[in-house]
Amino acid sequence: MSAPVVSGSERETRAIAAALAATLAPGAVLLLSGDLGAGKTAFVRGLAEGLGIDPGEVTSPTFTLVHQYDGGRLPLLHVDLYRLETADLDELGLDADVTGKGVLAVEWPDRLARVPAGAVSVRIEDRGADARAIGVWHGDTGK
Ligand SMILES: Nc1ncnc2c1ncn2[C@@H]1O[C@H](COP(=O)(O)OP(=O)(O)OP(=O)(O)O)[C@@H](O)[C@H]1O
Ligand SMILES: [Mg+2]
Repeated sequence: MSAPVVSGSERETRAIAAALAATLAPGAVLLLSGDLGAGKTAFVRGLAEGLGIDPGEVTSPTFTLVHQYDGGRLPLLHVDLYRLETADLDELGLDADVTGKGVLAVEWPDRLARVPAGAVSVRIEDRGADARAIGVWHGDTGK
């Protein structure tokens, strides 16, 4: 992992995510880990901004599991697996045919039985007040 970047505000986290989004190609999978309230959904709002999607559309998909936001450079698929013990992307309707066209962002990826090859991990850690350390690396969460 490259050295984590420290974000000092939700806005800064969104800017970091937007910059990452600009580099993503169809089929990108982002595994967003971090405690409750760390800023995973805020990061997804930044991904939306970076793809040209209205970030106001992004809400926590805890109850619906999967949200799709269209209208940007690439479709953004957003999944929150918090409530599941184990999850299979294919069973959620997120097989490679679907995810291959857009960007998939997964909150609580430790629930995944199998992590797609080529995934990028983003770890957000609360450093007190509004500070968050954000680390990005290629590969799965290393659980
Ligand atoms: N630097 C920061 N980056 C991101 N969010 C921040 C930051 N500082 C404060 N916050 C606040 O932390 C909260 C992050 O909430 P968010 O819903 O994004 O967390 P989450 O990781 O998705 O939580 P959950 O696991 O419950 O889904 C928001 O209230 C946000 O305003
Ligand atoms: Mg969330």
